[in-house]
Amino acid sequence: MPTPPPPLPPLAGTTTGPTALRPLIDTVLTALHDGAHRRDGPLPAGGPDAVTPHTRTATHPLIPDHGTGPHHALRTLVTALTEGAADPADPLCTAHLHTPPLALATAADLAASALNPSMDSWDQAPAASALEADTTAALAAEIYPHQPTPDALITTGGTESNQLALLLARERNGPVQTICATNAHHSITRAAWLLGLPTPLTIPAPNGVMDLTALHQALTHHRHQPLLVTATAGTTDTGQIDPLTAIADLCTTHGAELHIDAAYGGPLLFSPTHRNKIHGLDRAHSVTLDLHKLGWQPAPAGILAVPHRNHLTPLHHQAPYLNADDDTEAGLPDLLGRSLRTTRRPDALKIAVTLQALGRTGLADLIDRTLTTAHHLADLIDKTPTLDLYDHPTISTVLFRPTNATDTTVATIRRTLLTRGHAVLGRAHAHNRLWLKATLLNPHTTPHHLHTLLDLVNQLTHDLAEGNTPR
Ligand SMILES: Cc1ncc(COP(=O)(O)O)c(C=O)c1O
Repeated sequence: MPTPPPPLPPLAGTTTGPTALRPLIDTVLTALHDGAHRRDGPLPAGGPDAVTPHTRTATHPLIPDHGTGPHHALRTLVTALTEGAADPADPLCTAHLHTPPLALATAADLAASALNPSMDSWDQAPAASALEADTTAALAAEIYPHQPTPDALITTGGTESNQLALLLARERNGPVQTICATNAHHSITRAAWLLGLPTPLTIPAPNGVMDLTALHQALTHHRHQPLLVTATAGTTDTGQIDPLTAIADLCTTHGAELHIDAAYGGPLLFSPTHRNKIHGLDRAHSVTLDLHKLGWQPAPAGILAVPHRNHLTPLHHQAPYLNADDDTEAGLPDLLGRSLRTTRRPDALKIAVTLQALGRTGLADLIDRTLTTAHHLADLIDKTPTLDLYDHPTISTVLFRPTNATDTTVATIRRTLLTRGHAVLGRAHAHNRLWLKATLLNPHTTPHHLHTLLDLVNQLTHDLAEGNTPR
């Protein structure tokens, strides 16, 4: 007797998809729960030497001759990934602009995966394209409230948004010379390289923000070229905000264009308490904003906003199978110019769900709590005689280091906390020294967690001073 063919794996869509998904999701949720219990901390202990073989053993073989079935595979791989995760929802995981996603945004992302609209043509995304258009228009209006036709694109994040900003500036002005400060994100230099533009001119940021005298000099010196200044609202290392209004004034005086990388700081717009910190954002020719940072979205959730819809015209592109002229004339929205990508996820769904579920006040509350927590951490460090504070935070980044420690000790502390699985802290250079960096993005973090974090650092500093070798 020939063996019967295996049953076809069910699909996620139509009316039958939810029925097939429900038990699978249950398995995933159990695996997320069990994996987090096994880890029991912000990240797994042992560093790559332990985690890589452990993960490999647990997930092997990745391509068996005969499949293990959906529940087994989901249980095995999701448990292994969770057990070995650096979980940004753990308050002691606070190194990077690595956000703990909201449960509601994650649930929305599941629907995006199930429906799988592709945002490159209307016939693959009828409602999703309408939702994306409204979401981007609403976000653009937040950034450019005084413009009649602002617009925004959904991107994979700050890197892509910055790249598009330089591309659009090049298309408007020819081969622009970018001027940025040493505090700019590395993606600016990479974008210039990728686009065949001159290497950005980098001016000093002596106190963590762009130096205005140096900017004035650079704008004067290079006045015969098309210039694009890129300022940062929320720097990666220290979370500081360049003096946006003064920079915009200098750009206007010298006829230069301005891009503001507000990947981190942009969402302060939603907080009546903190939005004054990014005053001047709407003076920019383009703005980068990431909702997978201070917007609690699972990545990716990037935005590039422009003040005038027609600034996006250079991205127009035709592929007859996606946006034939007669289809566009017949009223089908032409989506191909909304990205350089073709197949594209409906990231607008999780963003829209979050905006609607929380509303302005809910978002402002999350932002305000997070910034208050960061201030609290800075105050605690300030009061601890064994620790030095770099500065009180502008947004939610707090740099600190053990008093009188060498840079090597600071680096060892960070790596030891990582290897032991006790805490995930970042590192940043400022004022010619290496600092531990806490980027607070978790609105659930309590003073107790902050005390625990500082106790871990103090204890380790003490042990190292006593000559105890870290394991
Ligand atoms: C200021 C700034 N801009 C851009 C980026 C890049 O964002 P993404 O990682 O989403 O591409 C980052 C990342 O941390 C950033 O801090």
